[in-house]
Amino acid sequence: VKVVAVASMKGGVGKTSSAVNLAYEASRTGARVLVWDLDPQGAATYLLRVDAGWDGAGAKRLVAAEGELAPHLRATPHPGLHVLPADTTLRFLDRHLGAVEQPRRRLGALLEPLADAYDVVVLDCPPGATLAIESALRATDLLVVPIVPTTLAARTLEQFREVLDGRSWRPEMVAHISMFDRRRQLHRTVQEELLGQPETLPIVVPVSTVVERMGPTRAPVATYAPRTAAARAYRALWDACSDRLWPA
Ligand SMILES: Nc1ncnc2c1ncn2[C@@H]1O[C@H](COP(=O)(O)OP(=O)(O)OP(=O)(O)O)[C@@H](O)[C@H]1O
Ligand SMILES: [Mg+2]
Repeated sequence: VKVVAVASMKGGVGKTSSAVNLAYEASRTGARVLVWDLDPQGAATYLLRVDAGWDGAGAKRLVAAEGELAPHLRATPHPGLHVLPADTTLRFLDRHLGAVEQPRRRLGALLEPLADAYDVVVLDCPPGATLAIESALRATDLLVVPIVPTTLAARTLEQFREVLDGRSWRPEMVAHISMFDRRRQLHRTVQEELLGQPETLPIVVPVSTVVERMGPTRAPVATYAPRTAAARAYRALWDACSDRLWPA
């Protein structure tokens, strides 16, 4: 199994939109895909039409020694795409991880028994750089960072390099431009700057109502607007991830 984490310290930059569409695109190629919704807000869970909650088992029991993911896996309406739904107790995930031994290895250890059941696991991370995210990154092969091209955007990459530097395990990192508005001069300027960074993929998700409609539609973009720039960008994003995960 390959693990892709979609993460950023910043909130509201398009992480969940990328995670869900990326996972859907992967599943369309025939891969067996799991989205692990690590955000207590449960946006990815909602967009994939699955009910949130773990029937009484909270984050504390999950990270405890006997915790396991398998009972919580749910099918989505999309063939080959499963979700590990969010649970509101995930807001205490950091605290519970802090209480176990080797917290940075815990999320990876939870995934291990599922390694043969899935080809790709997509982690939809909440914003931040918390212990839970550190634990997620420790289990990650490829980190995907969506970046909105505004002031300080370039620092997002720099900060991640710092977070990852000096690790015994360091996932490969790629970035893509998110919510791009070509009418805005600042976006165009910062886009140029970002595309000059080695991690930035030449993939631009435009700011578009097509992406916003994922909320009311509760579906990946390609299911209802396949011939749009946004759908093409997400497809290209999966292709680029797949090239990194399985180099020819
Ligand atoms: N390309 C886009 N064009 C227009 N709206 C977008 C685009 N991408 C995301 N959005 C909207 O912006 C909001 C935030 O997007 P999303 O939930 O994907 O971000 P996030 O980084 O996961 O947020 P959070 O940090 O809260 O987890 C959502 O309402 C989403 O529909
Ligand atoms: Mg999100």
